[in-house]
Amino acid sequence: MDDLTGANSSTMVVSTMASLSGYRYPFPPFPAGWYCLGFGNELAVGQIISRVFMAEEVVLFRTQSGEFVISDAHCPHLGGHLGKGGTIEGETIRCPFHGFCFNTQGECTKTGYDTKTPPKAILRTWPAREVNGLLMVYYHPYGEAPSWDVPVHDENNWTSMAREKFEIGSHPQETSENSVDFGHFPIVHGYTDTEVLANLHVDGTYLNGKYVLHREADVFLQSGTTIRAEFEVHVWGLGYSWVDVFVEKFNLRTRVFVLATPIDGEKITIHSGASVCTDVKPGDIHWALGLIPSQWAYKLITKATLKGYCDDLAADFDIWENKIYIDPPALAKGDGPIAAYRKYCRQFYPHLEEWKSGRQLATG
Ligand code: FES
Ligand SMILES: [Fe+2]
Repeated sequence: MDDLTGANSSTMVVSTMASLSGYRYPFPPFPAGWYCLGFGNELAVGQIISRVFMAEEVVLFRTQSGEFVISDAHCPHLGGHLGKGGTIEGETIRCPFHGFCFNTQGECTKTGYDTKTPPKAILRTWPAREVNGLLMVYYHPYGEAPSWDVPVHDENNWTSMAREKFEIGSHPQETSENSVDFGHFPIVHGYTDTEVLANLHVDGTYLNGKYVLHREADVFLQSGTTIRAEFEVHVWGLGYSWVDVFVEKFNLRTRVFVLATPIDGEKITIHSGASVCTDVKPGDIHWALGLIPSQWAYKLITKATLKGYCDDLAADFDIWENKIYIDPPALAKGDGPIAAYRKYCRQFYPHLEEWKSGRQLATG
């Protein structure tokens, strides 16, 4: 009857009310940080892509020299949408409405009538970086410049990333919490015997932890195989994290990205990617893989790896889409370091108090 004690029942009521009011979390929908808006190969030279990010319309474009830029979607002249008929001219983007052009810093370089450019015609650009084939953008609620950078991975000896994309109703803090939520590993994913190899460690915006999981699975054409996998979680803010996974049985090292990006305050995009360290000999994983050209074998291994992780990820979707956020949670022995993770997350909401008072005003 613990859940009927005063403290617990009031927590439940507060959280349920939050969900019925349409927004399920006691923190803002848009935390500061680096977020993925696409894969590099989706954006060819001269191409413009429209996205909704943090409830704002933006465009991603690649200039003739290959530079990747993210800007507001609407032209500062008279509001034309750059993603609907805009074009790339050299190192500029040209608006389809009156032909004004803007360089990669957002400065207007010419009007459509060869007249003097208006000083106020500045297109807002967002801090952007292309890292390991990921198109990353930085968001800060007060427009501050990035205070940290996402790390660049050495891609030597790693296969090129296999990629997937999903859209679900959740929040980046919730999806990242998954990696420290040990209690759900056996229930949702069928993993057993979680062993902690390294406790959660926080250093500023970086969070790290290491653990071992076991699971019986059908992998690489071998059914009923018991897998022991070491997971090392690296989190750089709520939009950029990856897991290094070592499967001893196959001497296989993989790197898996699960990148949650807020769209509109309700939905998020999850970009998922996997690559495999080519130290492993394909024939050691399965004899048949040793019979085909190694580049094909690595491609198959990478795709199979991504599929395995995406299947795991998909098992969480229903939970994420329907859960509410319990604060404080009723933790038990067997749960992971949820409280430490949540404490780490607070730094990404410099606008928390302002957001809370805005909500109070809105709800009267
Ligand atoms: S609205 Fe873009 S050039 Fe006029
Ligand atoms: Fe999960």
